[in-house]
Amino acid sequence: MFNSKIAGIGSYVPEKAVTNDDLSKVMETSDEWIQERTGIKERRYGEKHKETTATMGTKAARIAIERAGIQPEDVDFIIFATLSPDYYFPGCGVLLQRELGITGTEVGALDIRNQCSGFVYGLSIADQFVKTGMYKNVLLVGAEMHSMGLDYSTQGRNVTVIFGDGAGAVVVQPTEKEGQGILTTKLHSDGTYAEKLAFINPGSHGGYHLDKMGIEYDYGYDKDLEYGGIFITDKMQEEGHLYPNMEGQFVFKLAVRKFPEVIQEALNSAGLQVSDIDMFVPHQANLRISQFVQKILKLNDDQVWNNIQKYGNTTAASVPIALCEAWEAGAVKEGDLVCLAAFGSGFTWGSALIRW
Ligand code: UT7
Repeated sequence: MFNSKIAGIGSYVPEKAVTNDDLSKVMETSDEWIQERTGIKERRYGEKHKETTATMGTKAARIAIERAGIQPEDVDFIIFATLSPDYYFPGCGVLLQRELGITGTEVGALDIRNQCSGFVYGLSIADQFVKTGMYKNVLLVGAEMHSMGLDYSTQGRNVTVIFGDGAGAVVVQPTEKEGQGILTTKLHSDGTYAEKLAFINPGSHGGYHLDKMGIEYDYGYDKDLEYGGIFITDKMQEEGHLYPNMEGQFVFKLAVRKFPEVIQEALNSAGLQVSDIDMFVPHQANLRISQFVQKILKLNDDQVWNNIQKYGNTTAASVPIALCEAWEAGAVKEGDLVCLAAFGSGFTWGSALIRW
């Protein structure tokens, strides 16, 4: 069995920066509220009709591929993590394959739906494929174009102000160097609170889960229709049900518990301690969550990488964008112990320990 390592990393954020003051012109919010509660100063938005989740992912992928010293044709498996795909189906994996110009290679493309923990889940999948010798160059991408699907009215402000667009990518390859590479990954989920942070319409649920959970809803379903009439309705459109929803405080409280738990679990299984961590790269959910976790773990400021201030929460892209930035700044060096961790919708969460 080989160990696997991150052989190349890249990221891309769109040019357009949207400040908190910009958002306060279209909804009731303020720079003060957003910075105080989340640490976010601005976020990037992709250019409508010119950029998509798949095209931004491709830009990040090209950088990762070049830094890994390979050609796009050498990629032998694609994993794409996003919650804001270009299409309901097919997924972004095949669109990225086409954008990269490697359709002729017929490589497999896997799309994963693990929201904020998508990149950590994807890294674990890539690790298993490489370790077993099945693939040699797994391209893992986390990308989001949230800006196309947010509610810009005051009703959606608790969600909309948080999210931003961007992409990150890595190439995972085998390494024979003793002790180097991905040491362990830990993945978890608990569907009990699936609706606490969710984007449920349009969808095929037809109210099933909501009925079961006693959640009241009125989406204007046409129950007299023999076929259809529930996937998407006029009422959903009119009343703003076609957007993500979040019970922020509930998510916050669970996140600050699960991050330290899953990090400690990874450290235990690798026989390491918090004091061995050189760089902690958390999912950029909220600066206050990162600071809370940093305090619990007793890490110094220079051991934690935060960039949510500039990009907002880019969900599946946040960990690879932050990791790439840390690496480019020289804050992640060969031999360093890097800890990644994420928590989000599902709920799903996970961690990874990497000896760089
Ligand atoms: O990445 C996936 C995982 N996601 C997370 O980890 C997010 C976790 N949660 C959070 O980050 C925070 O809960 C939020 C930043 C989303 C919200 O902060 P909060 O301190 O929990 O605020 P809240 O939702 O309890 O709302 C407090 C007040 C409410 O007003 P009232 O009812 O007290 O009058 C909200 O309506 O703040 C209001 N509010 C806003 N005001 C100005 C909510 N959003 C905004 C806004 N601007 N954007």
